Amino acid sequence: MCGIVAAASQNNVVNILADGLKHLEYRGYDSAGIAVIENENIHSYKKEGHVSELTSILGKDLASNIGIAHTRWATHGKPSEANAHPHISENSIAIVHNGIIENYIEIKEKFFKNIKLESETDSEVLAHLINFYAKDNNILDAVHSALKEVKGSYAIAVLDKNNSSEIIVARHGSPLIIGVGEDSNFIASDAHALIEHTNQFIYLDDGDMASVSSSEINIFDKDKNSVNREIKKSNISLGSNSKNGFEHFMLKEIFEQPEAVKATIQDRIINNSVPKEILGPSAEKYLDGFKVVQIIACGTSYHAALLAKHWFEKLAGIPCQAEIASEFRYRKHAVQPGTLSICISQSGETADTLSALRQIKEEKNYIGTIAICNVPESSIARECDSTLITHAGPEIGVASTKAFTTQLVALMLLIIVLGKNFEISEEIEKSLCEQLQTLPEKIKSTLDLDQEIAELSKIFSNKEHALFLGRGSHFPIAREGALKLKEISYIHAEAYAAGELKHGPLAIVDENMPVVAVAPNNVVLEKLKSNLEEVKARGGKLYIFADKKAGFKSDEISQVFEIDAPLNPVAPILFTIPLQLLAYHCAIIKGTNVDMPRNLAKSVTVE
Ligand code: F6R
Repeated sequence: MCGIVAAASQNNVVNILADGLKHLEYRGYDSAGIAVIENENIHSYKKEGHVSELTSILGKDLASNIGIAHTRWATHGKPSEANAHPHISENSIAIVHNGIIENYIEIKEKFFKNIKLESETDSEVLAHLINFYAKDNNILDAVHSALKEVKGSYAIAVLDKNNSSEIIVARHGSPLIIGVGEDSNFIASDAHALIEHTNQFIYLDDGDMASVSSSEINIFDKDKNSVNREIKKSNISLGSNSKNGFEHFMLKEIFEQPEAVKATIQDRIINNSVPKEILGPSAEKYLDGFKVVQIIACGTSYHAALLAKHWFEKLAGIPCQAEIASEFRYRKHAVQPGTLSICISQSGETADTLSALRQIKEEKNYIGTIAICNVPESSIARECDSTLITHAGPEIGVASTKAFTTQLVALMLLIIVLGKNFEISEEIEKSLCEQLQTLPEKIKSTLDLDQEIAELSKIFSNKEHALFLGRGSHFPIAREGALKLKEISYIHAEAYAAGELKHGPLAIVDENMPVVAVAPNNVVLEKLKSNLEEVKARGGKLYIFADKKAGFKSDEISQVFEIDAPLNPVAPILFTIPLQLLAYHCAIIKGTNVDMPRNLAKSVTVE
């Protein structure tokens, strides 16, 4: 969380920093700030709120060849101007920081007992610590010494008043990249912030530091040995940050799903078969020897894991566990020998998932690791043995939509490959491939429900609570629907396996409780119908998203939305679409900030 952008140039960097921050706002948007060196002094500007609040106070004639900037997602200390970055020590050192300094109180006690801090942040303490070491050292050595004292995670960019040509950067556990330009060099949390200026990037390794000037980049490892890191060309296109005529990124991303799914299966299905080569050469290490699968993820990606568990067990007969990364990393595990681990992450930088992955790599009973990820250069994608990239394209809206559906598609491709040594026959493989190939068209038809759902939202958005019900492989879809609704419309929503209703939640059903049901035409349809009768009998209002062959009819208590979702394993993907639209339209009516909902950020790089 938090976005960093910095630049050293022969030209004015102020607009580069301001534009970069706008592209990074998805990482945090509760306050923003910028610091530049002008006339041998550090000048800093900070504002609570969105980046636009900050840019409105930057004078038109503000000019500098070097600067650092930050957009914040609060961890230590509430959103406020004082807690916004950059943090400055004695008008000499300015830093921007992403991550958490876990031992900042100990550092304060040890070094600065009598200093009154200006903010409530851990980051300010780091600024003072660097300044402390800078009194007797050059700035690179000072940053190195300060970071030796630090426990936690960080990506930092540091300005030194006495060295107006260089920015010092370092990373450990939080992402940071260097953009290589002609007469400028740049630093950012991710490539989108810089793509208007360069497509050449250096991805720093964990523990790296660098000094960056307009003409030189020098990189050092954690022991301060000079090292070379490869310059990579990014495929991100200039247009990928734009809304393309849609009112919000989220709506654009919902409507991009047919193309995103197509891109994710492209070249991976050949003659109705999925070649094992999609996993790369490292797959040889685990393909023949794995016995069970364990999936680790957070949030929406965890919901993809829950559905994949159904698929692994039902289609391939492969035992599969799905784990929430933040829980997994702090408990003891009994790992079966031959366990294959799969990490699902849109961003590839989620701290809990990354940390779980690193634990897994230390444990001998794991045979291999696979990433399902949307960002090829991310830490998770780079650290797993194999990576299956979801070709969703950049997802800017904080609420995950196309990343989820493409994760499911990538998981299905993976199950086909892994399942060939288990219960996936040629016939099943062919059928699954055919289903995947018709999915883009089916998603397109499901998107036609948009206007109908916009109408429904007029009633729904007045509600304070909602229940989402599903069964079997559609229960994860109900959970995802509830998560989407609460995160962007702030309506409290919970999902239950429909059969669980009578074990407690039925108590909260009355005429004010809307109940959303996901109703495929499958073996548990009749069971689901009985569960919905239980709701009707208590006066609950039903909104049923049903396969058109499931035989539901609208009446005074239930409203039915028909979906053409033939009875096959990929059907749950189709039921996701109307729930995304429901959340979107409710949020529009409620007037929330759809793309940047309160208290959230896109990339959760802190614990
Ligand atoms: C919800 C959402 C989050 C993410 C979660 C994991 O819409 O986007 O729940 O799914 O923070 O993020 P990734 O997939 O980047 O690891």
